[in-house]
Amino acid sequence: MLNKWTKDGWRSLPRVQMPTYENKLELEAVERQLSNYPPLVFAGEARRLKMQLAEVSRGNAFLLQGGDCAESFDEFNADLIRDSFKVLLQMAVVLTFGGKCPIVKIGRMAGQFAKPRSSDFEIVNEIEVPSYRGDIINGMPIDQRVPDPQRMLQAYTQAAASLNLLRAFSQGGFADIKRVHSWTLESAMGGEEYSKFHHLADKISESLEFMKAAGVSSTENEMLHKVDFYTSHESLLLEYEEALCRVDSTSGMTVAGSGHLIWIGDRTRQVDGAHVEFCSGVINPIGLKCGPSLTEEELIKLITKLNPSNELGRVTLITRFGANESDTYLPRLIKAVTREGFEVVWSCDPMHGNTVKSHTGFKTRPFDRVLQEVKDFFAIHKSEGTIPGGIHIEMTGKDVTECTGGLQAIADEDLSLRYHTACDPRLNASQSLELAFMVAQELQTR
Ligand code: PEP
Ligand code: CO
Repeated sequence: MLNKWTKDGWRSLPRVQMPTYENKLELEAVERQLSNYPPLVFAGEARRLKMQLAEVSRGNAFLLQGGDCAESFDEFNADLIRDSFKVLLQMAVVLTFGGKCPIVKIGRMAGQFAKPRSSDFEIVNEIEVPSYRGDIINGMPIDQRVPDPQRMLQAYTQAAASLNLLRAFSQGGFADIKRVHSWTLESAMGGEEYSKFHHLADKISESLEFMKAAGVSSTENEMLHKVDFYTSHESLLLEYEEALCRVDSTSGMTVAGSGHLIWIGDRTRQVDGAHVEFCSGVINPIGLKCGPSLTEEELIKLITKLNPSNELGRVTLITRFGANESDTYLPRLIKAVTREGFEVVWSCDPMHGNTVKSHTGFKTRPFDRVLQEVKDFFAIHKSEGTIPGGIHIEMTGKDVTECTGGLQAIADEDLSLRYHTACDPRLNASQSLELAFMVAQELQTR
């Protein structure tokens, strides 16, 4: 017999990667408080994103999803949000030009706080301490490693403030295409991609002038003043997710109110586990990370559970195998999905399969491997006759030195200069733009 889904149904199932809170009463008080707060996103927005992702799955649009590996409480200010948003806008312009199609823009922002870890403990200064699991759970300093439920309230507040700013940027004129020249960052000036971007921006300005002169209607022009921008994060801390669930008054369906798209990580995608159960019952678009250990049988069971009615735009498969590794894994997953007739968006995360330790001791990602995995992704979808629908990246508008390579030729020795990430290494503005130009080229032949 099928049990009806409830927002707390996940509690009776096996869970992994979630903290055990010592003080249950304190945890419950926080959950009650959160469940009385307003949701951050609304059902209509999630449905709209799903419709746009349906267009991505048909090949009529392309998905750009990017942001921090982990947002942090310390590194929270308007300039950082603005600069990451600017880089995503710049990338989207480049991709629009290459793909001649709309770009669906989703930030790993306003809620991306909880992190799965490969080990429960880590060694810091020769002491074994519980692993850092993201600011919504515990703190980076070793005396803050005990999971603290109050952190959920701070995460909520930060997510609300971030989203408020992102809504203002995307709707309030900042993202107006006429301002395309103003989206560049001082830190990127003088770089090769910077001049390429300016060349493109000049072409756009000329076309806008032309349209104006030709009398293109002002309603169409009006549409160019604003962009749709959505938020996303890994749905890892289920107490937080459950507390922000809301019933949509128009449809009676449940929506995850914590972000527009939520995804299931590669470590928490057990078919009969808590995370998949939770995501199966909310109406939001759902991402599913697909790494090397995922079998075709599991993938079919997962999609069947997450999208029994085969709704377009509901499931985005985010594949992450590592450079030159996709050949071993991706074609058989594609074949299984195609054989079953499942509607999905295929997106490529070229970050998480390409993490290495530099000889200088930093967790890094060689940029040429990132580019290689994206190239593999396009080539394989071409040969399978399926649609390469998007990219999923860890990036920032800050001029960091976290991933090696790129036109700036960041070397192992340079990593220590500006290594700021709270978790995994991110592409900086220049590397992000370089990647966008490469993807734009691929899109021209899609
Ligand atoms: C992530 O996206 O930050 C992440 C942990 O990815 P994955 O689940 O693919 O390892
Ligand atoms: Co990461």
